[in-house]
Amino acid sequence: MRDLSPFRKIALQASEKAGRILRRGLQGKIEISYKGDLNLVTNIDTGSEKAIVALIGRHFPNHQIIAEEGHGQKEPSPFRWIIDPLDGTTNYAHAFPFFCVSIALEIRGKVALGVVYDPIRKECFFAEKGKGAFLNGKPISVSSVKKLSKSLLVTGFAYDIRTDPSNNFNHFINVSMNAQAVRRTGSAALDLCYVAAGRLDGFWELKLKPWDTAAGSLILREAGGKITDFSGKPYSIYDSEILATNQKIHQEMRQILNKNR
Ligand code: IPD
Ligand code: CA
Ligand code: CA
Repeated sequence: MRDLSPFRKIALQASEKAGRILRRGLQGKIEISYKGDLNLVTNIDTGSEKAIVALIGRHFPNHQIIAEEGHGQKEPSPFRWIIDPLDGTTNYAHAFPFFCVSIALEIRGKVALGVVYDPIRKECFFAEKGKGAFLNGKPISVSSVKKLSKSLLVTGFAYDIRTDPSNNFNHFINVSMNAQAVRRTGSAALDLCYVAAGRLDGFWELKLKPWDTAAGSLILREAGGKITDFSGKPYSIYDSEILATNQKIHQEMRQILNKNR
């Protein structure tokens, strides 16, 4: 297996650098602009993205970089970095302290490495394919909860919630009626990592983008979790449905998400 340590070093450095930008940004005035009615972006999303892209670009100038706010490096390459410079922007804009930086590296179409960094709690979730998942250097694994009725779940809603009838409300109601409880945190990357760390038992969402899930989906798998679309097909970060669980409640979740389809 290829030695990923040069990539790991830069991914971790970039996440820390971006984390500092996010932390510092909260001390000053946040400038908000809108990509859609509800979809906002701040000057800090941009600042964080530019810093990550500059660092990765300096070390690996031939690598492709897909970054949410569009400052990446488009030239195709077998090495493709996938970056969300601030996952949880709405939280951030309100100073609600739940957001992160997400950085993944895909090699020949497979996510090989992922880091999700929560700069408020200074929690760094990390995984390399085949090598397990870690939180601040310590191994993590999914929960052992076996029943949906005893599970704490999490979901999210896309920015077109007001206009697209496929807005996840039906699933939210159906799952809520069968689980112990359902949360909505506002950061899909952290949601995946919380399932990986056994703090939550499952997560589902519609219409996420590769930068929301690239790092978190690897971390979840490496922590022993299961991740598919609602039909049970193995998840690709380019899919629009995601169901990520501790394995044990996967089947029960699938049954509920396929109700009335
Ligand atoms: C959003 C968050 C949120 C999810 C949205 C995403 P952003 O990403 O991950 O939890 O529900 O669908 O778009 O815009 O904060 O990077
Ligand atoms: Ca995101
Ligand atoms: Ca973002």
